[in-house]
Amino acid sequence: MSRPAGPRAKIDPVSLEVFSTAAACADWASLAATAQGCVACPELARTRCTVVVGDAPPGARLALVGEAPGAEEDRTGRPFVGRAGRLLDQVLAEAGLDRSAVAVVNVLQCRPPGNRPPTGTEAVRCRGWLERKLDLIDPELVVTLGLSSAVAFLGRGVKLGEIRGRVHSAGGRQVLPTYHPSAALRFGPNGAPLAHLRADLAAAASLTSPT
Ligand code: URA
Repeated sequence: MSRPAGPRAKIDPVSLEVFSTAAACADWASLAATAQGCVACPELARTRCTVVVGDAPPGARLALVGEAPGAEEDRTGRPFVGRAGRLLDQVLAEAGLDRSAVAVVNVLQCRPPGNRPPTGTEAVRCRGWLERKLDLIDPELVVTLGLSSAVAFLGRGVKLGEIRGRVHSAGGRQVLPTYHPSAALRFGPNGAPLAHLRADLAAAASLTSPT
């Protein structure tokens, strides 16, 4: 049978290399060390201070996936330590979740210059790291924070307002999308994003086993 006419999907060899490098990391410590040398995204590798691998407390049942490190995260090497991170900690605590028991990673592990959103190519090139991190954490539930993270799991074209607050199956994982704490900050204490973030993290707490 002849092949149907039309463009064939091109596979980015850099993404493939990242997948196999990440897959070869047997544990979190080796992944964290190996990821520091990643140069898959040349602009990010040139402009970052550090690779923000994320937090993976042993036994974490819940994994939060944000967008990308900001300035504070790039400086300190830890995810969600700036203003958005402080709000996240507060909302987690209100939901009865201790930040130190929750895994926190990002779609990108390097800061995009000027905090611009990740490009599609960057998200695809960092995907092998993200997948391996989630394999190693093995959470019961993944909570995506913001649109970039929801798109990474549920595909382009999703509308956060329509999909948030419900558990979706994606790539063998249980995924609950919600708003990014930065949106909650932007819309203020009476805005819908903060109310939804609170409700969705409370739901996430009730859906995961205590640690
Ligand atoms: N915003 C994110 O999406 N991730 C961080 O780690 C910090 C801010």
